Amino acid sequence: MTTLTIRKPDDWHLHLRDGAVLQAVLPHTAAHFARAIVMPNLVPPVVTVADALAYRGRIAAALPAGSGFTPLMTLYLTEATDPADVAAGFADGTVTAVKLYPAGATTNSDSGVRDIDRAMPVLERMAQIGMPLLVHGEVVDPAVDIFDREAVFIERVLAPLRDRLPELRIVMEHVTTADGVAYVRSQETGLAATLTPHHLMINRNAILAGGIRPHYYCLPVAKRETHRLALRDAATSGDRRFFLGTDSAPHLDRLKETACGCAGIFNAPNTLACLAQVFEDDGALDRLEAFVAENGPAFYRLPRNEGHVRLQRSEAPVDFPVAVDTADGPVTVFQPPAPVHWRVVAASA
Ligand code: NCD
Ligand code: ZN
Repeated sequence: MTTLTIRKPDDWHLHLRDGAVLQAVLPHTAAHFARAIVMPNLVPPVVTVADALAYRGRIAAALPAGSGFTPLMTLYLTEATDPADVAAGFADGTVTAVKLYPAGATTNSDSGVRDIDRAMPVLERMAQIGMPLLVHGEVVDPAVDIFDREAVFIERVLAPLRDRLPELRIVMEHVTTADGVAYVRSQETGLAATLTPHHLMINRNAILAGGIRPHYYCLPVAKRETHRLALRDAATSGDRRFFLGTDSAPHLDRLKETACGCAGIFNAPNTLACLAQVFEDDGALDRLEAFVAENGPAFYRLPRNEGHVRLQRSEAPVDFPVAVDTADGPVTVFQPPAPVHWRVVAASA
């Protein structure tokens, strides 16, 4: 097969940032995706519906002319979030989901949740109205090894929360472990997970073996190979509980190539090409569409997209741009660790 046409995909976990970086990165997502769940971890974070409306306006202003891209806005959960504000924003369609960051877990998560009990009034309201909670599933306990933080989060936070509030619909964002995959598979309803392209393609050796490579560093950090294989199995299985969230997370190169570099991998320009390669390698090209364009809308109870994208396979590996320039400096693009033979050649608006 040399070309593949699929329904236009959505990105169910995306960082667009603001200002010069937003301006530079947004066209790459808008070129291939119809919708994206936009993460709220700006500085300061997107906490209220009014914040989300203002941010949505800045995104709309940065969109290329004629783009049909729709940003789906999220709110950043704090211990002071007002349940009535969240419910009103969900009811009128301004906001799609709420994001839980354990305080200190990742980039700009300092105003996140320290004590989940304090967020229960919001979570109870969300359970009543069917609004999804998106979780960054890592504990921040310094006694827990960074490679174990996802598994420990499931045990200490997620499973107890599911027991306490079974009707709350939850997406475990960017699952990186076999433990995460197994937990999602163990739950019949109300729980799904996003998977990133990079966690399907790299393990922790990419970051650490033969020199330290900051552009492969993100959170949750890539794990060992057995975990990567479990993620691939989940993504390519067709199981409706797993769908694409790129976690494309641009940081200026100078903030990554430093003694204490930021976490985040910028993959928006080549996500679909990389995924076509992953699914081809695993003999699952016929399931790519479910992963990128069907399972997500089903969980979010949104219609599937009408448009399409066409991918083409070439014998020669594709060269992707090394970086995207912004007015504040370059942002390096994710370089897949093995040749990719696919590229997007057409997409409906
Ligand atoms: C994200 C960011 O930079 O905002 N970083 C990352 O490594 N994925 C935050 C996040 O999703 O954890
Ligand atoms: Zn993220």
